[in-house]
Amino acid sequence: MPRSEHILACLVMLCGVLIFSAPVNSAMDEKMKNSCVDCHSQLAGNSFVGAKSHDWKGSIHQKHGVTCEKCHSGNPHVSDEKEAHAGVLGSSNPQSLVYYKNIPSTCGKCHGAEFYKFTQSFHYKKLQSEGKGPNCVTCHGSMVTTVLAPDTVEAVCESCHNERIGVFPYIPQKAKAVLLLLRESNALLDADKKLHRLEQGSEKARALREAEAALYSAKLDWHRFDLDTITSHLQDLYNALTKLSEENPHK
Ligand code: HEC
Ligand code: HEC
Ligand code: HEC
Ligand code: HEC
Ligand code: HEC
Repeated sequence: MPRSEHILACLVMLCGVLIFSAPVNSAMDEKMKNSCVDCHSQLAGNSFVGAKSHDWKGSIHQKHGVTCEKCHSGNPHVSDEKEAHAGVLGSSNPQSLVYYKNIPSTCGKCHGAEFYKFTQSFHYKKLQSEGKGPNCVTCHGSMVTTVLAPDTVEAVCESCHNERIGVFPYIPQKAKAVLLLLRESNALLDADKKLHRLEQGSEKARALREAEAALYSAKLDWHRFDLDTITSHLQDLYNALTKLSEENPHK
């Protein structure tokens, strides 16, 4: 039928136009563009403001497309500085998303589980009432480029937990030991995951899941600063890994 052939030809042409037309492609590029990143990456890296955007580059958030406005507000679709900054407030403004008291809930929009644990801690109450106490960026850095290492945790906790102030002065050393244990357990579990190829549903595969769950809980409870509970999760992890390395009697 000539008529249906005509329709077919039209369809093919239409597709060609959609696929090859330049305006459609550049409209998509426009959407992917982020004026915050574009403009800030041109600022001098040795200025305070410039350094922040350079820090963000290569961070886990950049890799996952978590751009500036997700934590700072503002409009990333316009290139004019004033318009783009609508709603962006400096960190010393109590209304700012990155004012130190507001940081936990800003991060908590995406990291609800860690935020929830954190709200259960004494430190969170202290932060809300007195503006003192560690918050997310104390340990992760403002652009989340770092995670606290055992050696640094001691110094972070020591700024308040020390002999002079007298609030639980034993905590820094204990925190360091627990974080070291957490790191080692993580490495042990990773090594075991590489070593064993387990049949799904087998007893050993279940033990591996158990170990993974225990590690996850340990990391979460870290956000409540509950050092004893973390240690007990890590004990569960070791118990699960022991099941994994036991000889199978039916082999
Ligand atoms: C056209 C360039 C340009 C664009 C677009 C832009 N900025 Fe900025 N931004 C700057 C400059 C320059 C400064 C430092 C000057 C100043 O202190 O006002 C700055 C300062 C800031 C500050 C510090 C504010 C303060 O008061 O301390 C933040 C936060 C910020 N920008 C975030 C953003 C975010 C988020 C976006 C996108 C929604 C964005 N910027 C878009 C150029 C830009
Ligand atoms: C994951 C959340 C997050 C992302 C994404 C993020 N920031 Fe930040 N930024 C923060 C936090 C939190 C602070 C406050 C840190 C502090 O108090 O140490 C901050 C501080 C800043 C400051 C200093 C502002 C001041 O008033 O002290 C600037 C400038 C800034 N960021 C720019 C940017 C730019 C530009 C981007 C994107 C390239 C970006 N940030 C992406 C969380 C983020
Ligand atoms: C808009 C959502 C969003 C916001 C807001 C956000 N993050 Fe993230 N964050 C992510 C995503 C997505 C990832 C990468 C995937 C993952 O690990 O969950 C990530 C990863 C992380 C990681 C690494 C986790 C890992 O597996 O290694 C840390 C730590 C982290 N974020 C802390 C923060 C902190 C602290 C803030 C606040 C300053 C914050 N995030 C704000 C979305 C967000
Ligand atoms: C006292 C230090 C400290 C504070 C405060 C802190 N974290 Fe963490 N966070 C850690 C450590 C340590 C880890 C585990 C890192 C590792 O896997 O080695 C971690 C892990 C994470 C992870 C990754 C969890 C995973 O499964 O790998 C996220 C997301 C995160 N933190 C978000 C937050 C948020 C959001 C806040 C604020 C509400 C916060 N953290 C406050 C120290 C801290
Ligand atoms: C800015 C000060 C400050 C910093 C930093 C700080 N703490 Fe605290 N912490 C306190 C105060 C104040 C108390 C409450 C003491 C009391 O009960 O009177 C406290 C209580 C505690 C408690 C017991 C109360 C509870 O929540 O069960 C633990 C555990 C604790 N901190 C762990 C830590 C660890 C681990 C670090 C380091 C990652 C740390 N703290 C860093 C101020 C701080």
